[in-house]
Amino acid sequence: MAPKKIALIGGDGVGPEVVAVGASVLAALRDTRGRDLSCEAFDLGAERFLRDGVTFPAETRDRLRHEFHAVLLGAVGDRRVPDNRHAHDILFGMRFGFDLYANIRPVQCLDDRLMPLRHHRASDCDFVVFRENTEGLYAGVGGTLKQGSPQEVAITEAVYTRHGVERIIRAAFAFARASGRKKVTLADKHNAMPHAHGLWLRVFREVAAEYPDLTAEHLFVDALCLFVVQDPGRFDVIVTCNLFGDIITDLAAALQGGMGMAASANLRPDEPEHVALFEPVHGSAPDLAGKDRANPFATVLCVGMMMAHFGFPEDQALLRDIVCEGLTTRRCTVDVGGELGTRAAGEWVVERVRQAGR
Ligand code: NAD
Ligand code: IPM
Ligand code: MN
Repeated sequence: MAPKKIALIGGDGVGPEVVAVGASVLAALRDTRGRDLSCEAFDLGAERFLRDGVTFPAETRDRLRHEFHAVLLGAVGDRRVPDNRHAHDILFGMRFGFDLYANIRPVQCLDDRLMPLRHHRASDCDFVVFRENTEGLYAGVGGTLKQGSPQEVAITEAVYTRHGVERIIRAAFAFARASGRKKVTLADKHNAMPHAHGLWLRVFREVAAEYPDLTAEHLFVDALCLFVVQDPGRFDVIVTCNLFGDIITDLAAALQGGMGMAASANLRPDEPEHVALFEPVHGSAPDLAGKDRANPFATVLCVGMMMAHFGFPEDQALLRDIVCEGLTTRRCTVDVGGELGTRAAGEWVVERVRQAGR
């Protein structure tokens, strides 16, 4: 394989703890399966910001963009930085700065024990959310007037472009066809936001017409949230805007066993050489930070997504199988019914990768 360079950014809270596990899994894949992977750690996050005022330096940004194939990020967000400026610069510096327009968040429940819905099994929950990652209410357009006064005005505008909407919808349909899935569901709110989400619906219908082999369904996002809980099995691929994708995937993480199980990729589909960002869906979990309690499996599944992106779906399958085995044999953290700490759960995964490679 062509050598792959991976940047490791632990970030804040539990971020460094789970990225340490991710790094050791990558090392095990390199050693036992001959993958040509090299990692370099970057000191970014609240500590660095509080120490020397640096959030996401241009030099780092340019190196990541031009020298690296992937970034593994833990999480950013720290109460000591009240406006989380550093988190904004780092996370959006990559998502927006690298134009990683597809935020792909698989929602798969890997063990019946983790399925919280009484009448469902793990196999009923297996869909993928395509979250638009560069526009919408996250675009940063807006401002305030008369701040601090009773007349204060605050405006955040939702920005959608034909180009931005079309490319994520196309990515969702292309993924559905390529992965043998049958249905693509658009989650929008055109009843309340006819201008912005009218565009989504029109483009969705246009693109759907090119995929007669797939069922195209529209749901309002509020109703979709109801159905995700009542009947997750009806979903295959969901495509939606930036904010709705954020909310749907935390809701859906509850069907996977919690935030410690949800993985994501931020990338440009069909551009395998372009730097991509892999991160667990969870945040810095300040309640768990420094306690060796964070579940590292979401990060292990992120490494799996990274390896599939590099052209090794068999590595992703291996890591998923190991996570499933960890769940059934309870070699996992407390949140998913085990007794291991973050490090021990990670060491067990690494040991299984090494055994598989022998
Ligand atoms: P969170 O995801 O950090 O935590 C929500 C809940 O999930 C908490 O109960 C936490 O204990 C639990 N949880 C999270 N990760 C877990 C893990 N690996 N194992 C077990 N349980 C886990 O969300 P929050 O509390 O709303 O946010 C905390 C900070 O993280 C905020 O500053 C927020 O802005 C930031 N954040 C960053 C990212 C990111 O970097 N991509 C994502 C989400 C939130
Ligand atoms: C996520 C997070 C981020 C988001 C925050 C930290 C800005 O919640 O990655 O899901 O809203 O995208
Ligand atoms: Mn989120």
